Amino acid sequence: MSLASADTLPGEFAFTDADFEALARLARSEYGLSLASSKKPLVYSRLARRLRARGLATFRDYMSLLDRAEEAAERLELVSALTTNVTSFFREKHHFETLRSALVPELATQKRIRIWSAGCSSGQEPFSIAMTLLDGLPPGARDMRILATDIDPAILRKARAGRHPAEECATVPDEFRARWLRPVPGELDLVEMSAEIKALVSFAELNLICDWPFAGPFDAIFCRNVAIYFDQETQQRLWSRFADKLRAGGFLFIGHSERLSGAALPEFETAGVTTYRKRATPGPARPT
Ligand SMILES: C[S@@+](CC[C@H](N)C(=O)[O-])C[C@H]1O[C@@H](n2cnc3c(N)ncnc32)[C@H](O)[C@@H]1O
Repeated sequence: MSLASADTLPGEFAFTDADFEALARLARSEYGLSLASSKKPLVYSRLARRLRARGLATFRDYMSLLDRAEEAAERLELVSALTTNVTSFFREKHHFETLRSALVPELATQKRIRIWSAGCSSGQEPFSIAMTLLDGLPPGARDMRILATDIDPAILRKARAGRHPAEECATVPDEFRARWLRPVPGELDLVEMSAEIKALVSFAELNLICDWPFAGPFDAIFCRNVAIYFDQETQQRLWSRFADKLRAGGFLFIGHSERLSGAALPEFETAGVTTYRKRATPGPARPT
């Protein structure tokens, strides 16, 4: 009988501290993901199914596989396994109330409107933004786009289809549901976003810690429940990069357990719960 060594997690696959550290280094350098050592059992349980799927016996084999250039898809499986795609329509409703009451009146005077949903998952966030804008803005010709990005190509395929289980649409206000959600013929439990809403949203694959191939500026950025996976340094770099992409007065909405910190703080003023507005000129430096 062989006993696992002290630093090896007991289980189906050998997973040493050295394996965990190598995995954590890769997750951080490539995707900004922060894996504290307390997460070792969680990482094991999330990734064991990938080892099974690839017919591997040890985490060391899995690491060697991830190193290969042609294993880009497996590296995305890794990100999927270490993060979640949980989302919902009008999640953290107060952000949509602020969008409607504080930003839409300004946008009504603009010809060009740009909003970014960064880490959009299966699309409920950008579609909620689109419904809020269409409901609040007066009719008229304008150049309006919602850019919706995520690192996960599989979730983006779902998002582009714009089809959602009917029961998940309970948080869409009744009036919006009547205007912009349609039954899917032959699919009793599914509803689909209308073409009018889908046409406003452009989905694209993007790793937030890499280069951003678009100029902006944006009137608002939603990046909610994404940075929570990143270490503090990556988060702070992200907040500064968002500040660079927002126009003066533009809004940044972040997730309920996220906080702005670091060099970007003087660039923003607080405008509500986890809601920030870019100042026209940076304010005094604030403690982080
Ligand atoms: C919990 S969901 C949040 C969805 C939505 N923003 C919300 O709050 O409902 C987190 C999303 O972040 C994405 N994500 C994780 N790491 C990322 C990265 N480095 N770049 C871009 N997206 C990432 C995941 O694929 C996932 O879809």
